[in-house]
Amino acid sequence: MTVSGLQDALFTDIAGYSLSALGKMAIGREADPALTYGECTPEAVAHILAITGAKQGDVFYDLGSGTGKMVVYAAFLVPLKKSVGVELLPELHKAAATVGDRYRQEIQPQFQDQRRETALSFQLGDIFETDLSDADIVVSHCCTCFDDALMQKLSDKLEACKPGTRIVTITRGLSSPAFESVSMTPCQMGWGQATANLYRRR
Ligand SMILES: C[S@@+](CC[C@H](N)C(=O)[O-])C[C@H]1O[C@@H](n2cnc3c(N)ncnc32)[C@H](O)[C@@H]1O
Repeated sequence: MTVSGLQDALFTDIAGYSLSALGKMAIGREADPALTYGECTPEAVAHILAITGAKQGDVFYDLGSGTGKMVVYAAFLVPLKKSVGVELLPELHKAAATVGDRYRQEIQPQFQDQRRETALSFQLGDIFETDLSDADIVVSHCCTCFDDALMQKLSDKLEACKPGTRIVTITRGLSSPAFESVSMTPCQMGWGQATANLYRRR
């Protein structure tokens, strides 16, 4: 199976946009741009893994993980130690947990390499309260629609990452001297062309 085949194997009955709309309505935040939903593509995740030099044993975090696409695509493409998603909305988290169960039961047993051992983890909660101390790679697609105040909060949060952590923010960038700016490259998301901003925690 190719990474693109995961869409059919795991996600055909998972309607991320509808689940996000339901989840936002349930907490009265349907108009909040900070919770804008959008999905990655397998190509975008392959690009992110390539620019971050992802390798066997790395711990990967997707901040704002939606239905879990980035988490499972990353685990499929590189034999990570752990692939973690953090999502605020219970409706999306529940779908991601279902995807995670399918991945463990249907996909992982097919591997003949270390990808059999990758631990998938989906956390229900706020990215600003997540412990990132074991992260090697952190991706924030969710900051695409963050305002300046939330970008500052994200930057402060990411300063807690260990030195050397590779950080990718989609669309919006970081400006703190705590991060070395490595590259800005185009990457194709489900909703259109975006910019992947790569940093290294100093
Ligand atoms: C653009 S979507 C990306 C989904 C997934 N990472 C992907 O690439 O397919 C951003 C997600 O981040 C979530 N989100 C936004 N702010 C959050 C926060 N403070 N804590 C946890 N999740 C958050 C939203 O609910 C949404 O599902």
